[in-house]
Amino acid sequence: MSLLEVDHVVVQFGGVTAVNEAAFSADAGRVTGLIGPNGAGKTTCFNVISGLQKPTRGKVWYDGKNISRVPVHRRSKRGIGRTFQRLEAFGSLTVRENVRVAHDIAAGSRGLLHRGARDVDILLERVGIAAYAEERADSIPTGTARLLELARCLASEPRLLLLDEPSSGLDETETDAFGELLRDLAADGVGILMVEHDMDLVMAVCDEIHVLDFGSVIASGTPGQIRTDPLVQKAYLGYSDDAPEPARRAATGDEMDQTMVMAPIGGTPS
Ligand SMILES: Nc1ncnc2c1ncn2[C@@H]1O[C@H](COP(=O)(O)OP(=O)(O)O)[C@@H](O)[C@H]1O
Ligand SMILES: [Mg+2]
Repeated sequence: MSLLEVDHVVVQFGGVTAVNEAAFSADAGRVTGLIGPNGAGKTTCFNVISGLQKPTRGKVWYDGKNISRVPVHRRSKRGIGRTFQRLEAFGSLTVRENVRVAHDIAAGSRGLLHRGARDVDILLERVGIAAYAEERADSIPTGTARLLELARCLASEPRLLLLDEPSSGLDETETDAFGELLRDLAADGVGILMVEHDMDLVMAVCDEIHVLDFGSVIASGTPGQIRTDPLVQKAYLGYSDDAPEPARRAATGDEMDQTMVMAPIGGTPS
């Protein structure tokens, strides 16, 4: 069994079926991508996995156990870590203090002794934001703030890391470094499940990709398989720059997604 198994999950909001019998998995030591057009149900799946959203039907299995009824804080204690599309750091604290707080909360909740300031600095170094350690979190660029979110999340040493749009706000160099960091974390045994719109990043770092459309998984496979899958190409058709977004997609509750344009698979030829 995989580290994470999403087992035919259904989520209905009134008349809207946001997730429709979605079934997919994510393994330890691998980077798994969850992609799909705006409104496909990706964030709702993350909410179900982390415990913020109760599924209408279906189950979530983690580490061989059915965690469908386990509350959010227990899931995080068991090693499910998550970053959000919106940023959550304490603005008036410095970057280092933010990571320190996350560190101490994680250590406290497990009854461990404090890990030292050195561990915090190693973490800042690892995600590539050591140069910002003394800056207030509300004064750093968006890309850096996103990496700070990741550092805060990593402070709890997750076994499963859920990343929702982690590369938005990162420039090209930062995105490359970020991709390497994900591969590094996977090599350490962390299971990573990532929702991401940057197809170049997805294709470069993922071992496996699941594609959601209208709440259902329409394809699963390696980047090579997904790139050439006819169902996937059809699902993405019409979401490029020059095509208007159909109304059914515009109803997403997610502000950030509405401003984002899905690039065609394989990127635009330049
Ligand atoms: N809290 C909510 N209440 C009602 N509808 C929602 C809610 N959250 C999401 N939805 C709807 O569920 C569908 C999937 O949304 P979401 O999971 O945010 O998609 P994605 O992250 O793939 O863009 C959309 O149609 C969205 O409008
Ligand atoms: Mg989303």
